[in-house]
Amino acid sequence: MTVLQDEFTLWNGLRMPKVGFGTWQITDAAEAYEATSSALACGYRHIDTARVYGNEDSVGRAVRDSGIPRSEIFVTSKLPAEIKDPDEALASFETTMATIGLEHLDCYLIHAPWPWHDIGRDCSAGNKAIWKAFEAIYRSGRAKAIGVSNFNVRDLAVILDGCSIKPMVNQIRFFIGNTQEEVVDFCRGEDIRVTAYSPLATGKILQHPDIVAVAQRCGKSVAQVCIRYVIQKGLGPLPKSTRAERIRENADVDFEMTSADMSLLDRLNDTDKVHHGQEAT
Ligand SMILES: NC(=O)c1ccc[n+]([C@@H]2O[C@H](COP(=O)([O-])OP(=O)(O)OC[C@H]3O[C@@H](n4cnc5c(N)ncnc54)[C@H](OP(=O)(O)O)[C@@H]3O)[C@@H](O)[C@H]2O)c1
Repeated sequence: MTVLQDEFTLWNGLRMPKVGFGTWQITDAAEAYEATSSALACGYRHIDTARVYGNEDSVGRAVRDSGIPRSEIFVTSKLPAEIKDPDEALASFETTMATIGLEHLDCYLIHAPWPWHDIGRDCSAGNKAIWKAFEAIYRSGRAKAIGVSNFNVRDLAVILDGCSIKPMVNQIRFFIGNTQEEVVDFCRGEDIRVTAYSPLATGKILQHPDIVAVAQRCGKSVAQVCIRYVIQKGLGPLPKSTRAERIRENADVDFEMTSADMSLLDRLNDTDKVHHGQEAT
């Protein structure tokens, strides 16, 4: 049993592999196909894409060509963040399904509570309205789970107030030094599973001296420590790489960090904001 076979059970009973493969910023079609195929060949069974990544077609093709039964792969995609109208949401879902070429998604998420060009804008009414469309999609069986991404407690409360089907997943930015405890605790209380995007802070924390020291003590790479940290915090990491050897490395995380090392990592803050490299002179 490897970490890639570990699963969470969502509140509706659906099983979701803990570790997912991230595909953001893999825009080249051949590269996205290769990376997803490598991840599947290496044993990943959870692939994270989004309409806005522009690679749903390559991801879907890699899933179809893998020879792995569809029922064994968990595929997530997302509604573009700027869509806050239910009819547009349903139309966008149809576009995703036609592009990805799969009969169902395992999980469909609202990409963010606000458009990326206007982070923080109050879109409560829009989010409430599109959640009704998400509930209809869930009832149709074409998405086995529905959820949100980048939602804070207030954003989640808007959805929970009056919904018939509550979100199963909240995908948030989470890594050592950025642990978003308030929303994680809230989700735990509501039985909403939290998945961790950018577990390596998109590469920005790989030189952090305290994390490097823990990695040396564990005899593991810094990336492995970052991914293991997320797992030991009880969340599902979604690491991304386009390189086969790193895709393998990022899944080779069957080790246990001591509580002393976990506490040390828990105390780090703003790990992605400090420049750890050689200063220019
Ligand atoms: N919901 C959202 O709003 C949202 C936002 C951001 C991300 N996400 C999801 O989360 C996934 C992961 O987040 P992310 O893409 O920001 O990045 P990440 O997984 O935190 O880090 C990826 C970066 O680290 C490098 N890397 C990967 N493995 C490495 C290793 N073992 N050693 C050294 N460097 C390594 C990668 O380069 P190479 O590719 O060259 O290896 C890439 O530059 C995304 O792909 C996406 O699926 C979701």
